[in-house]
Amino acid sequence: MTTTVFSGLKPTGSLHLGNYLGAIRQMIDLQDDPTTACRYAVVDLHSLTVEHDPRRLSELTLELAGLLIACGVDPDRSVLFVQSQVPAHAELAYLMEATVAFGELRRMIQFREKAGAQDRVRAALLTYPALMAADILAYDTDLVTVGEDQCQHLELARTLAHRFNGRYGETFVVPAGVHPAHVARVMDLVDPTRKMGKTSTSSVGVISLLDPPRVVERKIGRATTDGDRVVRYAPDEKPGVSSLLAVLGALTGTHPVPLAESYQSYVALKRDVAAAVIALLEPVQRTYAQIRDDGDLDVVLRDGAGRARQLAGPTLERAHRAIGLAPAA
Ligand code: TYM
Repeated sequence: MTTTVFSGLKPTGSLHLGNYLGAIRQMIDLQDDPTTACRYAVVDLHSLTVEHDPRRLSELTLELAGLLIACGVDPDRSVLFVQSQVPAHAELAYLMEATVAFGELRRMIQFREKAGAQDRVRAALLTYPALMAADILAYDTDLVTVGEDQCQHLELARTLAHRFNGRYGETFVVPAGVHPAHVARVMDLVDPTRKMGKTSTSSVGVISLLDPPRVVERKIGRATTDGDRVVRYAPDEKPGVSSLLAVLGALTGTHPVPLAESYQSYVALKRDVAAAVIALLEPVQRTYAQIRDDGDLDVVLRDGAGRARQLAGPTLERAHRAIGLAPAA
């Protein structure tokens, strides 16, 4: 039996190490599993939920798609596409808005955090989880691979699928989540109590997948640690050092607790973290430059969108019928 996998990343800034360790690495592992069928989307509509620059959005969309391929997403094996090129997402999102309650949306942690930091909140920020549920449910998804910060949204997508099925008849597959084993949440290097994010106000705490080696060295070299100079994995007491250990552990396949024992100083730890990150990024950056030079990314994405439309169409039609909308002639 084939397991259908879905994941999405939004082009609100350059991809970073958190995106890689939290989602992209699992996306590639799952793609390489012969029993899966993977659908991966650059979810550009989600970028419209906060203030955005229309001139940058299409470039960030291409950059994100190119980087996913450079990291190992193979557009022949996985369906790789841009969300706005598949109208079923927005159409199904409306049915999800008609399924979810206002109170459920308002309670979402990400909504509360992001809305609290803005004067003028877009209605789309509130309805974002309805669109995310549509993204997932449109493909009869069995597994969703996301970092820990998306758990609440995924749980809501599961609730909505159950609710829709219960009220209107069996329509959607109820998806399960898969999260990375070691480091489900990569923390900001400057403020290790916050997650590393694309839209962080300062980029010194964020390692972009496109950062050149000397920038990686500098950012990791300046990462916040603490004054007691003992390398120990204790996320609550020593968030900075623990976060570096978690990253190195994830990149080397080692648990951070035994890893800590092999270090006598923060300088040595930082040097090895920087080396491991650079070893990860160098081949990705080389492949990315080739992909952008070749210039056929548009063609790849157009093909992916065509395949995605074919896959999502029947689900949307099923949902229309179930909820009582007149089927298209
Ligand atoms: P986005 O674009 O913010 O992040 C993309 C993926 O990266 C993970 N991630 C992290 N993982 C670990 N540490 C971090 N610091 C970190 N920052 C981000 C996220 O968990 C995510 O897996 N709402 C989603 C996009 C989306 C989606 C979907 C995902 C829309 N529709 C359907 C899955 C399925 C988001 O904002 O991701």
